[in-house]
Order: sequence, then structure tokens, then C-alpha cells
Amino acid sequence: MIDILLISSSDEHEREVKALLAASDVRHRLHSERGAAKQLPRYAERIKKTDLLIVADTSLVVGDLAAIEEAIGHASNLTCMLVASALKTDMLMAAMRAGVRHVLSWPIDANEFAQELQHVAGKKTSSARREGRVISFASGRGGAGTTLIATNLAYAFAAARDKRVLLVDLDQQFGDASLLMTEKTPASTIADLFAQIERLDAAFFDACVSHVHANLDVLAGAGDPVKATEMRASHLERLLALVRDQYDVVIFDLGQTINPLALHALDQSESICVVAQQTIPQLHAGRRLLDILGALGYSASKMHLLVNQYEKGAQVDLAAIEEALGVKPAHLLPRDEKSALQAVNQGVPLLTIAKGSSLTKSLGVLAAFLWPEAAAPSKSMFGRLLAPKQRAVQQLKPSH
Ligand SMILES: Nc1ncnc2c1ncn2[C@@H]1O[C@H](COP(=O)(O)OP(=O)(O)OP(=O)(O)O)[C@@H](O)[C@H]1O
Ligand SMILES: [Mg+2]
Repeated sequence: MIDILLISSSDEHEREVKALLAASDVRHRLHSERGAAKQLPRYAERIKKTDLLIVADTSLVVGDLAAIEEAIGHASNLTCMLVASALKTDMLMAAMRAGVRHVLSWPIDANEFAQELQHVAGKKTSSARREGRVISFASGRGGAGTTLIATNLAYAFAAARDKRVLLVDLDQQFGDASLLMTEKTPASTIADLFAQIERLDAAFFDACVSHVHANLDVLAGAGDPVKATEMRASHLERLLALVRDQYDVVIFDLGQTINPLALHALDQSESICVVAQQTIPQLHAGRRLLDILGALGYSASKMHLLVNQYEKGAQVDLAAIEEALGVKPAHLLPRDEKSALQAVNQGVPLLTIAKGSSLTKSLGVLAAFLWPEAAAPSKSMFGRLLAPKQRAVQQLKPSH
């Protein structure tokens, strides 16, 4: 799937390019804007997610190429195609120097256009290798907050850290993660996908996930314990082999089940977050889960204890938690009933309705703990517009 941004200065040219794209068998998403090359900085955010920029600007002059050069220089995978009536040699040379790779003339040759699209699609496939860092969330007992944390962390990575994120709901009992992110009913669940695993390819996968945010896809939970029993670790292995390198982060909500399927997710995980609360039954269950994970050979260094709904004055204090579980909590998420309830009831992420709440901020700190931010500010106008928003990494400390 390639993302195309078309900047055209007339209806007629927009129609011609759209007709060629419609006839193409390269899978694409088109965003079309009426405008000129010199206005490119206005589309900086979109250009960041664009694979192919098509500029069909009839009034293009050499001076406008600076805007194209800036865009190409700051969007690492961007290919730029210029469509013009008759380019003089000096303009053609200047365009090439600016980084334009394809210059076509009107009327566009359909074969030439199709070849260029194939080229961009091929380049994307070979360069789209992402980090595919895997983080799992599990709890020993229901209601700990695993789903709320996993979903909102996924959203925080996608929206605030500009990471491509896949959230996979592996909870085999409730499978409610997608309900916390969108009111749309998911087209398919993970159980549906696994039931047709022989059909799995990029297009089928894309049709099964919910696109919750430009950067965040959610594979909904089975939502049916009977269907869930049919899901196999080999299915998950096949799925991850296909999609892992298309995402920066893959997050699993495992719920409370530890079975071969969950073990496959845990085997792939760089971080395993165990969620517990400050109650004796929760701590018992948390301890059991930590012991089981330890016995299964997962190293203590990748396991992180998260205490959710933390309250400073609660009867079970930090010392009691540490004594009961044998580990220091890696992070404390405060109890924030108002924000949590609002988000859960409306089926929207905390960042969108309670951005300044203590819980949302704490989730941001957790994101920075699990994946520390690297600061690489860029000075130019495009650099500033295109750079992911930098946030100060807060000290990891109890949030209360
Ligand atoms: N930090 C918090 N402050 C206040 N309420 C919270 C907090 N975290 C979670 N909750 C609330 O607790 C309830 C359970 O949360 P959630 O569904 O995330 O837990 P879970 O561990 O996934 O449970 P399940 O066993 O159903 O999978 C939800 O109603 C949620 O709104
Ligand atoms: Mg849950």
C-alpha cells in the first residue's frame, strides 16, 4: 500500500492523474490537494506519511523547486514525480538536482506512469523494514487495568510519538480492546483472521484490522472464548512474520491467559508488563503470574511490574507491594476514575478526551520508560514541521 499526495493546479490535471491511478493495480491511498509547489510546507504533516508526491503545477518556476527539495530532504522515503507541459533543460536539471526522480509530461503516458508507480511500491516494500519492537501486557487477575493501559499506551506511541503501532488483542475471554479505542465495530476479529490463515497476505490483513489512527491499527480480540480455543501459536507466528516489520511497535493485550499462543507473544516481547493493583487478591495473583513467567524462563530484566490505580495513602503501600511481589514496581499509574470512566464509556483514547489528566501524563511517562525518546532536532523550516513532536522525558517516579 503506497500513500500518494497529489498537488495539482487544475481540475483537469487532477482528473487525469486520478484516472491513471484508478486504472493501476498498485494498491494506494490518494490524498489530493488543489495548490502549487510553493505551498508544500503547508502539507508537511501529510508529506511525512507520503510515499509518492505528485506535483502537477502548471505555473512551476525554478524558485519553487526549493520547497520540493526541502520536502524530499526531510521525508526519507518520499519519491517525487513532477508532471509538466514542456520543461526546458535548465528547469529539468534543477528539478533533478532538487531530488525529483520522475518528470512526466502531459498527456501522461499510461505505461510510463504505471512503471513509476511500480517502482515506488517496490521501493516501499524493500525499505519498509521497521523495528517491530514487541511489548506485552498481562495480569494475574481480572480488572487490573491491562486493557486500558495497553490500548492507551498504543495510542500514545501512535499519536504523541509518531510510531506506527499495531495493537493485538489476545485476551481470549473478553477481547474488548477495540471498544476502548473506537465505537466502530471491527470488520474482523483475530479469531476470524486465524480461521482463514491460509488467505493471509498484506491485503487480507489490512482488511481485518481497524484503522483507529493514521499510525495505529488494532486487531480486535476473539470476543468469543469458544472461537478463541481454535487460535494457534502457529497462526500468530505467521501473522507476525508478515507484519512485524511494518510497525515500530506491536503491543499485545494478553489478559490473564498464559497458553501456547500467549507464550509465542511473550517469546517475541522485549518488554513484558505485569499489571497489578494495591489489593491483596491482586498482589497474590500478580505474584503467581511473575513466578510462572520466571519459571518459564523470561528474564527479570524484561519483566516490569506496573501498579495501576495507585493511591499513596492506600492500606497496601509500596513497601508491602515490593515485599509481596519481590520486585520494585517499574511504574505507578494513578487512580483517575473520572478520566478512565469517560474514556471507557465513550470508547475513545485518554489522550483525546483527558490530555492533561494525571493518568494520561503517567501513560506518557510509561511510554518513555518502555521506549526512551531520542532527541534529534532539525533546524530548517521543513525539519521543524516534519520532526516528531519532542517531549521532555519525565523522571520515572511514583505518580501521585
Ligand atoms: N488508573 C485507573 N484509574 C481509574 N480507573 C481505572 C484505571 N485503570 C483502569 N480503570 C478502570 O478499571 C476497569 C478495568 O480496566 P480494564 O478493562 O483495563 O482491566 P483489565 O485488566 O483489562 O480487565 P479484564 O479482566 O476485563 O481484561 C475499567 O472500568 C477501567 O476504566
Ligand atoms: Mg482486559
